[in-house]
Amino acid sequence: MPNITFIEHDGTPHIVDLKTGLSLMEGAVKNNVPGIDADCGGACACATCHVYVDEAWLETVGMPLAMEQSMLDFAENVESRSRLSCQVTVREEINGLIVYLPESQH
Ligand code: FES
Repeated sequence: MPNITFIEHDGTPHIVDLKTGLSLMEGAVKNNVPGIDADCGGACACATCHVYVDEAWLETVGMPLAMEQSMLDFAENVESRSRLSCQVTVREEINGLIVYLPESQH
């Protein structure tokens, strides 16, 4: 199972092993990682599952598709490395991924 590190805004790390096929958001919620609200349950309709992908992982994780990009417009403090975690699928290639959580989701 790929190992993913979520780092809270205050620097607190949460290191979890996630089953492939889950979204990063689902994996975070199942493992009680704080800071991901996921109000829409993963439908790419709320932008409250915003994360920042570690620069070293951007190419492997990939860029958002158009629908995700338009939802990201509703998130605060969006950066070029922003993703909605419900739209990132856990796969073996992202074993070791580090993502950072924003200060808040609103
Ligand atoms: S959970 Fe709503 S956009 Fe990701």
